[in-house]
Amino acid sequence: MRPPAGAIQGGAGWPERVLPQADIHPRSVVPACRAPLPRPGTSSVTHEDTASTDHHRAAFLADVVAGLSAPVKQIPPKYFYDDAGSELFDRICELPEYYVTRTETAILRDYARDIGDALGARVMLIEPGSGSSAKVHLLLDVLEDPVAYVPVEISREHMLASLAPLRERYPGLEILPVAADFTAGFTVPESTREPARRVVFFPGSTIGNFRPDDALTLLSRFAAVAGPGGGLLLGADLRKSPAVLEPAYDDSAGVTAAFNRNVLTRINRELGGDFDPGAFRHRALWNEPESRVEMHLVSLRDQRVHVGGTAFDFRAGEPIVTEYSHKYTLAGMADLAQQAGFRVEQVWTDEQEWFSVQYLVR
Ligand code: TRP
Repeated sequence: MRPPAGAIQGGAGWPERVLPQADIHPRSVVPACRAPLPRPGTSSVTHEDTASTDHHRAAFLADVVAGLSAPVKQIPPKYFYDDAGSELFDRICELPEYYVTRTETAILRDYARDIGDALGARVMLIEPGSGSSAKVHLLLDVLEDPVAYVPVEISREHMLASLAPLRERYPGLEILPVAADFTAGFTVPESTREPARRVVFFPGSTIGNFRPDDALTLLSRFAAVAGPGGGLLLGADLRKSPAVLEPAYDDSAGVTAAFNRNVLTRINRELGGDFDPGAFRHRALWNEPESRVEMHLVSLRDQRVHVGGTAFDFRAGEPIVTEYSHKYTLAGMADLAQQAGFRVEQVWTDEQEWFSVQYLVR
């Protein structure tokens, strides 16, 4: 962050103010790579937290039962990210085969100045699904006098714990955390200073984890959040050879396989299921016509599994679909952006054109 030009800023940081918002049922929430989850020690459980825990469990059960009852069985990907899953995902981000995080971070680093110039001075930076806010410092370090940072994260405790380092590093920055599921919509809090524009930051190619129609809905929502004159800084993975894509989602060390199977362990623990995770095999498949990598858990034998009193039968070889990761061409993403009310202002890529960071404006 460049020194604010004569702006008066709160020295001791801004008062803790979290805006809880109603969460409806997201279809898919995949955070950007996160740091290891902080363990809540003696954290006080408020009434609101308890109520939302019950609510979350009921929604989890309903989603799993509905997903496993569908003609092609599926489990919504947002349930990957319990403590163990979040830690495994951090390890995915470090894998030699997983080029996504490494490439995106390099682009953000290499073009930090350009990106800072494109976004301009006095932005309000809004990050949906901020997780542990691990990437935003790359922007805050180069932005000119940013007005506020608004992390939006469903995992409230996780979000709050990860803000301390940011407060320390950017003492003059107003941080306005919002506890909400970004796929359900959220209200942007007002900052003390008037921003020149709002910019939504959505890295990690999380946009690819939505089906194209849902991705369009989400981008349209971001356009509304950004408002007239606002922007979206988007990380979007690009189409490439399946020889690169498939190993990125099925690494030789088996970390992605463990991450995928962990959702079954979580169902057993939180919903009283009786999955044998060892009886399912991880598979990553490039679906060419749909331009996406599909993550599956394939039943190794005929078996019956129970979740919440309901029985589900699997045939040997039958998959559960757990995640899609759509890959776009630059033209395809520009088309989607335009339908959502944005135009592509600037695109930064790596040398191999594996990944893109795009600045879309309204
Ligand atoms: N946004 C990430 C991606 O699509 C999420 C992700 C990476 C992921 N590896 C995964 C999701 C493995 C499920 C399984 O690249």
